[in-house]
This record gives sequence, structure tokens and C-alpha cells, in this order.
Amino acid sequence: MESTQEMTVQKGAEIELSVDSVSFGGQGIARVNDFVVFVNGAITGDHVLAKIIKKKKSFAEAVAINIIKPSIDRTNPECELFGTCGGCRWQDVVYGAQLEFKRQNVQEVFERIGGFTDIQIPKPIGSKEIYRYRNKMEFTFGDRPWLTANALFDADRRSDPFALGLHVPQRFDKVLPVRHCHLQSTLANDILNFVGDFTRHSGLPPYSVKDHSGFWRFLVIRESKRTSDLMINLITSEERPEVMTPFRDQIISKFPQITSLINGISSKKAQVAFSDYEVLLHGSPFIIEKLGDFEFEISSNAFFQTNTLAAETLYQIALEFAELKGHELVYDLYCGTGSIGIFISKFAQKVIGIELIEASVENARKNVKHNRISNCEFLLGDLRKTIRQLHQTPDVVIVDPPRSGMHEDVIDTLLELAPPVIVYVSCNPSTQARDLALLCQAHYRIDKVQPVDMFPHTYHIENVVRLVQS
Ligand SMILES: C[S@@+](CC[C@H](N)C(=O)[O-])C[C@H]1O[C@@H](n2cnc3c(N)ncnc32)[C@H](O)[C@@H]1O
Repeated sequence: MESTQEMTVQKGAEIELSVDSVSFGGQGIARVNDFVVFVNGAITGDHVLAKIIKKKKSFAEAVAINIIKPSIDRTNPECELFGTCGGCRWQDVVYGAQLEFKRQNVQEVFERIGGFTDIQIPKPIGSKEIYRYRNKMEFTFGDRPWLTANALFDADRRSDPFALGLHVPQRFDKVLPVRHCHLQSTLANDILNFVGDFTRHSGLPPYSVKDHSGFWRFLVIRESKRTSDLMINLITSEERPEVMTPFRDQIISKFPQITSLINGISSKKAQVAFSDYEVLLHGSPFIIEKLGDFEFEISSNAFFQTNTLAAETLYQIALEFAELKGHELVYDLYCGTGSIGIFISKFAQKVIGIELIEASVENARKNVKHNRISNCEFLLGDLRKTIRQLHQTPDVVIVDPPRSGMHEDVIDTLLELAPPVIVYVSCNPSTQARDLALLCQAHYRIDKVQPVDMFPHTYHIENVVRLVQS
């Protein structure tokens, strides 16, 4: 039978709630007796009026419609689009509290999913920059702008069929016009506005996801944090030199800082800023970024960590956890463009990386050449099979899987290989806790844990764990 408290938690009801913690998805958690209500738009310490939008057997979901008493951890967000743009959900939370929420999230999933009740998760290492920290931003063109409450009163903007900006959460067809994103530099914002003005007055339409027509698709800005390299990739649905030549002349004359200007062509229906092929309009086809002592060539479609300074911290922790003496064989599994393997290479005898995506392996090999490294080798393949082809027992294995974590077959092979040390780098502590439980049920134990924050104002967190044989 439902308790009286549970009965007040009915879909559509508006109730007062006190939020006592924050979930891994970034929602506030309130309890009516022991019945859990996830509250969107609320954080620990808030007392809110919330509307219940979903009721399930064991929990409900609500939206905060009025913050009656704000948490002491709230602050004023810098961005005028805060609340509409889905990018920085916690911009109104002081950074120290964001880090504590992230720590609690890791602690919670380690206990609940991994069963690790005796591990104390330390405070995450914070990002050195909390604004303008990204080295890459992707903006989308669209024919259906999402209007903020103020803009709705402006008739011109209501009928505007052109937008360049960011996607609104859960609305793949709508683009929120952005003129200033606080996650990128002032120069990048000036370029964003220049491109917005040029394309709007070009006479060519933005891409429409409704009927897959239109010309302008994405603008990708990549800015090295450690060199002065700057790449602009304007992705269109087809080649039109008569438009792109004047575009090149105007943008290069206005922004001579651009070292790489690319016109990516994408005829794919999928809304991903990844081109079928590229036309180099000016400068180099790649930019150079540095991590530690190493340089990385980043081409327009290549993956690279988006917070350079925090990536360096993350890799430094992975290196410290590996405790290399110089004689070790290290496997860098799920190696992407080889950045971890290359970063640690001068402390090991040999590094072997494995990665599924061909373009990433090509980039990794290029980066090995670029840095004149002789002890790194990168193999293309699905780890489920490729790892079985390596017969030598490594001294250290570093794994950095995608959000879904490691496949059970990979875990089984790792257990057969039985390296003395495994360093597990993860962008999703839930799947990490699940995988660690399997490794620790066999013959490993957790020796050290250190979360690292790469994405201030979001609930995302990277977590590094050192496992040793038990
Ligand atoms: C989180 S990224 C790690 C990137 C890299 N370590 C870095 O720091 O830049 C995960 C990588 O795993 C790769 N991957 C996913 N599934 C894989 C599989 N079954 N076998 C090999 N690599 C895989 C993805 O392509 C991606 O590059």
C-alpha cells in the first residue's frame, strides 16, 4: 500500500521538496520519507517548489518551478543563455561545490554498483580554467531557431529562418542562436559572429533536418592552448567555390591568426560535424597542440581531448599510477590517437596501443613520427580480438574505454594476461565501477583512486583507478 507521503507524489502535483544530494545525471535528489524524487534544476541544499512530471514504482521525476530557498552553493551564472542552453547545467553552482557533487557521485556509484564500501573517493582535481577551457567548439546551422523568453517578444526573431549556435537539449531540430559562448576564447567568439553574419547574408540557406536541404551545416573552431594554431572548419552540404573563395578572402583578412581554414563537405543525413572530405582553403590541414613535452597533429576530423590543461593533469595521474621505472612493457588499450601512450612513452621501454578507428590509429602513428618516438606501436583492431593476438605479458595495462566501459571478453582476456598493474581511466564512473567489480572478484584490488575534472559546469567527471594484484 502507498504511504500518505507517496500519495502526495503524483504526476502533475506541485510539492515543496528539500534537496539533499545530486545524482550522477546532475539532477537534485529529494526524499518524501524514503521515496526518491529526482528534481531537474535543483542542487543539494535547495528548498524548491517542484512539479512532478513522472511517477514510477520506486521513484519520481520533477522539475523545480520555484526555488523557495536557494542552496548556499548557488552563484550567478556568467552566461545569458544559462538555463536554455544545455551545455553548462551547473554554471550557477560555485566550482568547489561542483567538485564535491562529482566526488559524491563517484563515491555513490562505487558503493552501489561496484560494492566498494571501504574506498574513500578523494576530491577531484579541478580544472585550472573554469571558463574558456575548451580547445574545440562545434556550432550548428539551422532553419528553426530556438528562442529564449525575451526573443519570443521580438517579431523579427520569431520569423527568422536562420540560426548558428548550439543544440537545445532533447530538440535535435532546434538551434539556440549563440553569439558568445563562455567556454571558448574571445577571438573564437568574434570568429563565430563573423561566420554567422557572412553566412546569413550569403543568400544560401542553412541546413534543414526536416527535409535535408540547405547549404550551411556546421562551424568547428579548434584553438590550440599551447601554440598559436587556430583551425576553422566550415562544413557545408556541397562544394561551392564561388561562395567559399570570397569567404576565405574576407575571413583571413579579418582574422590573420587563422592558421588552418577548411571547408568540410558532408552529404550525410546524420547531424554530426564530421565531413566526407575536406577542401583546404588556407594554411595547414592540421593544428599542433602540446601535452607535456609532446606535440600532437590534430586534423579536422580527429578526436582530441577538448580541455588541454585538464587532459595533461589526467595523463599525469595515469602516469603516476603506472609507477613506471623505465623497463616496462605497457599496453595502452582504447588508445584513440595515442595521446596517453605517447605521453608516458619516455618512462617505459615499449608501449603498444590498440584502437578500433582507423583514422585515430593513423593519427597516432603520425604523432609517433612527429615526435620522433621509437618505442610506441599502434595497432588497428577491435580489442575483443586483437588483444588475444598479443602474447607477451605486459607489466602495466592502461585502459581508457568509451562511456559504455569494457566488454566482458576484454575483461576476461585482461584477467588471463594478468598484468601486475592496471590503470583504468574512465569518463563514466558507473561502468567503471561495474568493470572494477569483475576485476576485483578475480585477482585485483583497488590501490588508488583519483577523479579529475575536465568539464567544469557539467556533471561529467573522469576517474583514474590503479589496480594491483591481490
Ligand atoms: C575514451 S576514448 C580514449 C581515447 C584516448 N585514450 C585519449 O585519451 O585520447 C575511447 C576509445 O576507444 C575506442 N574503442 C571503442 N571500442 C573499442 C574496441 N572494441 N576496440 C578498440 N578500441 C575501441 C574508441 O574508438 C575511442 O577512441
